[in-house]
Amino acid sequence: MAIICKSAAEIEKMKQSGHIVRQVLDHVRALVKPGASTMDLERAAEGKINDLGAKPAFKGYYDYPCVLCTSMNEEIVHGIPSEKRILKAGDIVSIDCGVVLDGYYGDAAITVAVDGDIKPEVKKLLEVTEASLERAIAAAQIGNSVGDVGAAVQEFVEANGFSVVREFVGHGIGTRLHEEPQVPNYGNRGQGTRLREGMVLAIEPMVNSGGPDTRVLDDKWTAVTADGSYSAHFEHCVAVTKDGPVILTQ
Ligand code: MF3
Ligand code: CO
Repeated sequence: MAIICKSAAEIEKMKQSGHIVRQVLDHVRALVKPGASTMDLERAAEGKINDLGAKPAFKGYYDYPCVLCTSMNEEIVHGIPSEKRILKAGDIVSIDCGVVLDGYYGDAAITVAVDGDIKPEVKKLLEVTEASLERAIAAAQIGNSVGDVGAAVQEFVEANGFSVVREFVGHGIGTRLHEEPQVPNYGNRGQGTRLREGMVLAIEPMVNSGGPDTRVLDDKWTAVTADGSYSAHFEHCVAVTKDGPVILTQ
C-alpha cells in the first residue's frame, strides 16, 4: 500500500475525529485519581465516544477488547483496562484513544501522573516525552523526511538521559487507523520517506526512564520495559501542509 495524501477537505474531517479524541482524553484525564480503576476510565471513554457520535477505533482491531489502552508505570503501550488495576498516588498512566467519524480516524495519547508524590525523575520523563513530541511535530514539514521526525525525538530524549522504544512506532492515518509510512521515534536526519503535502502522521514517542528494551506480557498485548523502568507515551495526529504542521488532535 502506498502513502495516501489527504485533500484539504479530508484534513478538515480528520480535525473533527481528532477533536473528538481530544474531548475523550480530557474527560478521562479528569477521572484519573487514586482509587479509580483503569476500567473506570474505559467505561467513561466508551460513554463519551458514544455521546459525541463517533465509533471507537481500537475495540475489535486485531481483537483488541477495549476502546482505550491504559498503560501504567513500566507498561509502555497496549495495556488493557481492568477492574483490578487500581490507580494510586505516584503512579503514571498512559491513556491512548482512537475513534472513527464518517470514515476518518483520529488517534492520540497522553500520560498523566496520579495525584500525590511523583518522583522528580518520573516528572521529568513526562515532560521530556511531551517535549519530544513537540519537536517531532515541528519537524513534520514538506521536504523534511520521516528520519528528521524520528531524529528530533531521539536526539532530545537521549540528551536528557532517557531511551526511545524501537519496537513500536507511529504511523500514517486516514481512512484506516494504520497507514503507511511507519514513523519511528529514532532515525537519521535527511533519511527515509520525504514528507509531502497532505500526509497525515500519528506521531507517538514512547520513552523509557531506563533502557530501551521491551517485552510483551502473556496477555499478548501489554508491552512493558524489560528492565521495569517507567515509560511515557504522548501522541498527536499531524497534517503536513503548505502552512507547516497542523495538529489535528486538539
Ligand atoms: N495508538 C496505538 C497505535 O496506533 C494504539 C493501537 S491499539 C489497538 O498503534 F488496539 F488498536 F491495536
Ligand atoms: Co497510534
